[in-house]
Amino acid sequence: LPVTVYPDEFEAADKVAKYVADIIRKKQSLGKPAVLGLATGATPVDVYARLVKMHREEGLSFKNVVTFNLDEYYPMQPDSKQSYVAFMDENLFNHIDIDRKNIHIPDGTLAPEDIAPYCLAYEQKIEEMGGLDLQILGIGRTGHIGFNEPGSAPNSGTRLVTLDDLTRRDASRDFGGKENVPTKAITMGIGTIFKAREIILMAWSRKKASIIKKAVEGEISGSVPATYLQLSENVKFVLDEDAASELT
Ligand code: F6R
Repeated sequence: LPVTVYPDEFEAADKVAKYVADIIRKKQSLGKPAVLGLATGATPVDVYARLVKMHREEGLSFKNVVTFNLDEYYPMQPDSKQSYVAFMDENLFNHIDIDRKNIHIPDGTLAPEDIAPYCLAYEQKIEEMGGLDLQILGIGRTGHIGFNEPGSAPNSGTRLVTLDDLTRRDASRDFGGKENVPTKAITMGIGTIFKAREIILMAWSRKKASIIKKAVEGEISGSVPATYLQLSENVKFVLDEDAASELT
């Protein structure tokens, strides 16, 4: 697996942001949309900050950018401060010139019976846009990518899932206690992620060192969904030294 290790997350995030900007510009010059799969959480925050800076200082335009976020809690109101809609607005969308109609984030307000058709339509929309040029990923301590928790199938599509207890514990600070963290989420599947033309998984800090070791060097298994990435030829791991510290 191609693994690149940077001294710290800021240098790594800078490199990833430049890579994203190159894709946007290249597609722009072809008169085509750049279709980006985006993640939330702490990991990509600096990438988004760098992209905002490039927009402000270098005129990087997002007019041709179409985005699909990996996941959203369920249920979740978009105007709730813990929603991934709020996260994306705050960290990226409110600060760039993206066309709002090009933003897609799974809808946490659906009635239960509407979820399955909505998820199919989400997949279809990605296809209609020409597929994901790049999918950005973080990794959870359960080995989840998106919210594909242990047990997820390698060919899974966008669907409603149950969050692992550890995932809910890790989110408890944002919600003021684990009991307030939703038990479910809507997430793109492993199969959805695999269809992206390029995948970049980022991880920073010692907290991620042991799961990164498993993801990169461990046996491929549904009990650590990120190990499925070992089967992809389009994936790059971008790490800081701390996250890479247990790799042999
Ligand atoms: C977020 C997502 C999750 C996170 C993962 C790591 O959209 O899909 O897989 O990437 O839980 O979260 P952080 O970056 O907060 O450590």
